[in-house]
Amino acid sequence: MVDDVFSPLELRETTVRNRFAVSPMCQYSCEDRDGLATDWHRVHLGSRAVGGAGLVLTEATAVEPRGRISPEDLGIWSDDHRDALAPVAEFVKSQGATPGIQLAHAGRKAGTARPWEDGRVLDYDDGGWDAVAPSAVPYPYDDDPTETRKLSRDEISGVVDSFREGARRAREAGFEVAEIHAAHGYLLHEFLSPVANRRDDEYGGNFENRTRLLREVTEAVREEWPDGMPVLVRISATDWIDDRESWDVEQSIRLADRLADLGVDLIDVSSGGIHPDQDIDWVGPNYQTRFAERIGSETASDIAVGAVGGITTGEQADDVIRNGRADLAIVGREFLRDPYFPLHAARDLGREDAIDVPPQYRRGF
Ligand code: FNR
Repeated sequence: MVDDVFSPLELRETTVRNRFAVSPMCQYSCEDRDGLATDWHRVHLGSRAVGGAGLVLTEATAVEPRGRISPEDLGIWSDDHRDALAPVAEFVKSQGATPGIQLAHAGRKAGTARPWEDGRVLDYDDGGWDAVAPSAVPYPYDDDPTETRKLSRDEISGVVDSFREGARRAREAGFEVAEIHAAHGYLLHEFLSPVANRRDDEYGGNFENRTRLLREVTEAVREEWPDGMPVLVRISATDWIDDRESWDVEQSIRLADRLADLGVDLIDVSSGGIHPDQDIDWVGPNYQTRFAERIGSETASDIAVGAVGGITTGEQADDVIRNGRADLAIVGREFLRDPYFPLHAARDLGREDAIDVPPQYRRGF
């Protein structure tokens, strides 16, 4: 039987009830810049679970304070952070969805104001901090950036430990899926891409070296994550940069197989973000799905893939799954507009039988 968007997804011993996933989306909503989850996170993520999503992923959750994009981002660098996230995971699970967390480090793109406060690079007086990166090459913001410092080898080991500890705490908080954020020009992608990585030690240069940090982080997270529960990695399949050495789909396919060997279950396939020179040829419905499809079909392993980008209707999400282009339909902005997107999709597709409507809402559906 052909899978559709309402079919459960089995990853290890974890069953995600359908193929709708809430894409990680920063909410910039921690109070006092402390990285602690608030009612906002519980209600925001909880509503999407109520709305029928199968997998609900948190926003990029920083494994170290300096790894936040904005000071108001979520963190998971202490037991207090774990305890603040536990009710979020618990409520999402109580609604039948699978709670997932995106573990992240912003690297050289850390320390910017929230978008509605203009997104500028924060200077020190504004609460900004030095960014760390594979090389001392700042992201070319228009504003004057704070210092971008090259990580030493010891500090790289420290980053691996931070991901390991973050994973342990995330598990203790009740999350069942861990997604490692290696996309969009943040730290792990910066190591992958020669656009940002100019190192000449064993973490820079050839493919093996540029992928080393992500592989070490993956091993550390996998060690902490229960065998029956899945680990996902979000990558940028391409930098969209052709005029210099960069990261591309061929390397992504190679990487996906290496990650499969390390116990990664699904690649969440996004793109871009490493440099403002990126030349994206087209943005529209399913604009990144072709990369997910290629990774899914050209890898030697049977690693699952998630498609993200421009999925806004139930029909589209269903087509992606039915046609075998991806195993998971990961949805960002449409879930901001409509927390009940899966419930609406079920109605649009005449498949109300196939989705969990919370009993409290049944008279409305
Ligand atoms: C994002 N995106 C994002 N991606 C990620 O990996 N971690 C994150 O924390 C965020 N934060 C974030 C915040 C907001 C407000 C938006 C709109 C987007 C990217 C997002 O997950 C998704 O990949 C893109 O939005 C493309 O998918 P859609 O929106 O076209 O479905």
